[in-house]
Amino acid sequence: MRLLVIGASGLVGSHLLAAARQAGWATLGTARTASAELRACELGDLATFASLCAEFRPEVVACAAGFTWADGCEAEPERSRRENLEHPLAVAQFCAQQGVRFVYYSSAYVFDGARGNYAETDVPQPVNVYGRHKAEAERRIAAATGGDALILRLIHVWGEEAKGKNFAYQVSRANRAGEELRVSSVYSGNPTWAGDIATWTLGLLQREARGCWHLAGERPQLTRLAWAQEILQGLRRWGHPEQVRLVAQASIDPAATPRPVASGLDTSKIQTFMPLACRAPHDLPASFR
Ligand SMILES: NC(=O)c1ccc[n+]([C@@H]2O[C@H](COP(=O)([O-])OP(=O)(O)OC[C@H]3O[C@@H](n4cnc5c(N)ncnc54)[C@H](OP(=O)(O)O)[C@@H]3O)[C@@H](O)[C@H]2O)c1
Repeated sequence: MRLLVIGASGLVGSHLLAAARQAGWATLGTARTASAELRACELGDLATFASLCAEFRPEVVACAAGFTWADGCEAEPERSRRENLEHPLAVAQFCAQQGVRFVYYSSAYVFDGARGNYAETDVPQPVNVYGRHKAEAERRIAAATGGDALILRLIHVWGEEAKGKNFAYQVSRANRAGEELRVSSVYSGNPTWAGDIATWTLGLLQREARGCWHLAGERPQLTRLAWAQEILQGLRRWGHPEQVRLVAQASIDPAATPRPVASGLDTSKIQTFMPLACRAPHDLPASFR
């Protein structure tokens, strides 16, 4: 299989690229800026993308790029609309015209977070700009590809990444520094290792699956605070004593960007189709040593 990953320097994209290479697929990865391994391609630059496709001839394009910061999307809704909706949609339309399969990574933020454990059949009801643009992108990409695109909803992704910005790194850094870390005891969802997302994505492509899937870890109701405690458990296993002072935040700041509170995803559909023993949040890879 020939796979082009847009956003291959990011958390999800870098794991997907690595897993595809390990499986022997031909790969090409892009990011905003070029590196030794990746080609430069702005998401909105369809001409550059088309010339990369002419050169590489992908069978599948996976879009793991976007404006993923919910507060930023609230402050810059036009940018969110472009980068989370219009540009991925244009790429999906191009792929459909070329007969190339398309994968769009979406988010549990399409739901309102009122009850959690959402299934693929539940109706999206986003509460913020990021969620609204992801939900609209899902609908329009599905329509543009005649339902053939894979729409993969993710939540609370963690794992090894060059920028070291995900929650596992935040807790690890605060622990090493012996700092205080304020963590919500209210917001909940499934911590999901990026490597498991990559395994499922490749498996879905191999099985010619289409449509919407929830790719998430096994604990849809885990609070942020409980997740931090599991990360500390994993750090202890690597010989790091607990030095961080976790401070539980039981309230929701009414002035902050609205976020779904219980945004956990039900994973019965993917676990029935392609069972996977997901990596637990305390099972930290060696790079956290
Ligand atoms: N992480 C999560 O917890 C989570 C949860 C739900 C859904 N998702 C979805 O999963 C996808 C991947 O998320 P992630 O966490 O892996 O993101 P990430 O770590 O922030 O990586 C984003 C990637 O996209 C690239 N990119 C960003 N803006 C771009 C643009 N305008 N043009 C071209 N490339 C651009 C970045 O390149 P540079 O490095 O060059 O900036 C980077 O490679 C997103 O669609 C996100 O909505 C993630």
